[in-house]
Amino acid sequence: MRKIAVALSKGGVGKTTTAVNLAAGLARAGRRVLLIDVDTQGQAAKLLGCAPSAGLAEVAGGEMPPEQAIFAARENLDLLAGGRGLATLKRVITRKDFGGEQTVAEALAPLDGAYDYAILDTAPGWDALSVNALFYAGEVLAPVSLEIMTLQSLLDFNQSLAAIQRYHGALTLRYVVPTFLDRRVRKSDEIRAQLARHFGSQLCEPVRYNVRLSEAPGYGQTIFEYAPHSPGADDYRALAGRVMQDD
Ligand SMILES: Nc1ncnc2c1ncn2[C@@H]1O[C@H](COP(=O)(O)OP(=O)(O)O)[C@@H](O)[C@H]1O
Ligand SMILES: [Mg+2]
Repeated sequence: MRKIAVALSKGGVGKTTTAVNLAAGLARAGRRVLLIDVDTQGQAAKLLGCAPSAGLAEVAGGEMPPEQAIFAARENLDLLAGGRGLATLKRVITRKDFGGEQTVAEALAPLDGAYDYAILDTAPGWDALSVNALFYAGEVLAPVSLEIMTLQSLLDFNQSLAAIQRYHGALTLRYVVPTFLDRRVRKSDEIRAQLARHFGSQLCEPVRYNVRLSEAPGYGQTIFEYAPHSPGADDYRALAGRVMQDD
């Protein structure tokens, strides 16, 4: 079971869009996928048009076994929802004397092997929940917005990664996914060249700016349901293909 955290980037760069549509793309290719929302905003459920009554907070808080909190969102695609309950969990984790960073990993251990992939959506920044997600994960997929990427943010990004790897050496940055590609903007190409120099083969094909991707959540649909022939669907299908190549 591969555990991939969509993480390490700022807000508004396409993390949730990527986590949900990558998970859906893998599920549509016949893989068994668990999407885990580790963000107090709980957007993943909204993007899938569902409202589960329980989620990660209940499981990691020890109130419920994982099987009971998991919501069957689509064929092959299960959801462990995020949301406000995670704020309480965050406080519980922070108050632990030791081992707080393993709280999520320990709670989800019974699910090992039940899926081909766990895809984790994380909040921006560096809080106890994001750290927990990274300790559970084996791989990181980092969306990088070509609209807001700067050299400084690239250096910050490298530093964050090094900081986690000091404590969780098995975690690898596997995929860097440029998002919001707009070919009319020349800066996009310069940034991509910088990313290629820094990340080489980890750099994936970009996800283009596509308004359909921002409309789909309003209908509670993935991009494959809302606009299956859009550039957004093509790009996320390609990303799922790239990830599956490494199985
Ligand atoms: N490739 C894209 N093209 C156009 N809009 C996008 C694209 N990716 C994401 N969006 C939109 O941008 C906003 C931020 O994306 P989101 O996935 O929520 O980012 P994050 O989770 O990193 O905060 C959302 O409104 C989303 O619908
Ligand atoms: Mg998000």
